[in-house]
Amino acid sequence: MDEFGLRKAVESDLQEIIRLWTQNIKTINTASDIADFIYSSRDYFFVAVSTLATLASTDEKLIGFVGGAIRRGHGHISGIAVDKECRRREVGEELIKVLEHKFRTNAFETVTLEVRKSNRSAMQFYEKQGYKPSYIVKGYYADGEDALVYAKKI
Ligand SMILES: CC(C)(COP(=O)(O)OP(=O)(O)OC[C@H]1O[C@@H](n2cnc3c(N)ncnc32)[C@H](O)[C@@H]1OP(=O)(O)O)[C@@H](O)C(=O)NCCC(=O)NCCS
Repeated sequence: MDEFGLRKAVESDLQEIIRLWTQNIKTINTASDIADFIYSSRDYFFVAVSTLATLASTDEKLIGFVGGAIRRGHGHISGIAVDKECRRREVGEELIKVLEHKFRTNAFETVTLEVRKSNRSAMQFYEKQGYKPSYIVKGYYADGEDALVYAKKI
């Protein structure tokens, strides 16, 4: 990976976001569920792109995304993923920051998210970003796994 940049997701990113989501997040969401998420909350979807400049052109590759939504009057992180080979280079951190900035701009003061109880690396990631564990929702996921709900005042 060379440099990376962030931008708002656009319609032509849809297939790549679906790829990132299904490859990296343990989910039962179908491609059409994910597309619905994106269309219903398009202001809150951002992508990270790596730019590989050659003499002939500059090729963009999607390496991560974050998707948010408004839920019960606060910001919510619906999904975040970074391609395996691009992790631990602050791509995830920058994606969270840009989404939080968007929520703040729209006057939301709290952000929440759910994470699988088994997803220790994601928990460490969210805690590094200042999220605090709040409560457990038993059997939240379709396969019966519990979710831990995190929250952050922004
Ligand atoms: C969670 C995820 C988005 C993090 O993306 P990332 O770009 O690798 O994260 P960053 O490089 O910005 O990490 C920032 C900090 O978070 C913490 N962190 C990130 N990944 C971690 C891991 N696997 N284990 C422990 N801590 C981790 C570290 O403190 C890290 O800082 P450091 O590298 O200086 O130690 C990425 O691991 C991922 O796509 N996971 C699979 C999908 C997923 O589980 N999504 C969340 C549930 S929806």
